[in-house]
Amino acid sequence: MTAIRKVGVVGCGLMGSGIAQVAATAGFDTVVRDVSQPVLDRGRAGILKSLGRMVDKGTITSAARDASLARLRFVTELADLKDRDIIVEAVTEDLDLKNEIWRELDRTCPPGTLFASNTSSLTIGSMAETTRRADRFVGLHFFNPVPMMPLVEVVRTATTSAESFERAYAFARSLGKEPVAATDSPGFIVNLLLVPFLLDAARARERGTASTPDIDRAMQLGCGHPMGPLSLMDYIGLDTVVRIADIMVDAYGEDRYEAPALLRRMVDAGHHGRKTGKGFYDYSADPPKPVELVSR
Ligand code: 3HC
Repeated sequence: MTAIRKVGVVGCGLMGSGIAQVAATAGFDTVVRDVSQPVLDRGRAGILKSLGRMVDKGTITSAARDASLARLRFVTELADLKDRDIIVEAVTEDLDLKNEIWRELDRTCPPGTLFASNTSSLTIGSMAETTRRADRFVGLHFFNPVPMMPLVEVVRTATTSAESFERAYAFARSLGKEPVAATDSPGFIVNLLLVPFLLDAARARERGTASTPDIDRAMQLGCGHPMGPLSLMDYIGLDTVVRIADIMVDAYGEDRYEAPALLRRMVDAGHHGRKTGKGFYDYSADPPKPVELVSR
């Protein structure tokens, strides 16, 4: 099994920057690519903030932070990923966009490069089939915030070779994560179960079952969740939740994956959660304040 030394990450949003941070901290030479410098700058700032928190808490030393940063490179060209041993793709949930990227990487990367998608709701097979390396294609699904959440779902398709799966599983372990094996169905394990729960929380809010903070507090104090479901949706991004829900309702045809009208109105109004400053809560206040719901 060829050792993984050089990691490439495509996409420097919340997920991609988190994956790049974790790879660099684990000692891998890491290159992260996004289309524009401002996106890369935002991703880099997020990594600096996260590493800074770890230094403040004493989880890592400032020398380890500096060494991690020295192992990270930010680029705008896909061609700069051509010498990587593994590529982890973490771009928007848009199959055409993902496949355009994979086809280009398939042309430029050597046969030994393992391809991994961090998709949250598309199938890995729908990407693998557009390349000439369906046997060297897996899913590696991380969780937000990537530096804090221990889980990685490692996904094999019908065509993934045993060696590729083992390489990916060992790579997840070498990042300090706990891998679980999942088969290639939309949502894998976590989103299959989590997304209906989040959508039900939005439906409860829409129906007026309780206030935003009370729904969140109920699940935190009654069920031991670290974050209430409405806060968690703000954290993931309401636009992302709706996109995942749309893909899953197409895949399964079940009403429980249908995004409620309230969520769609919030997304249309530009209330995408933390990243836009407003979702179920207004993040310009400290602590964040519940927001009046977007009406019809
Ligand atoms: N980088 C570094 N450190 C971080 C961090 C980050 N990004 N985020 C939080 N921390 C640290 C804090 O410094 C703090 O450290 P301490 O315990 O030593 O003081 C610790 O984590 C706790 O942070 P906070 O006090 O700010 O807040 P919480 O106690 O609420 O913890 C949390 C934050 C870890 C995010 C916790 O709330 C949590 O686990 N939430 C649930 C997250 C979750 O469910 N994620 C999955 C989302 S689904 C997904 O990603 C799938 C996708 O496909 C949609």
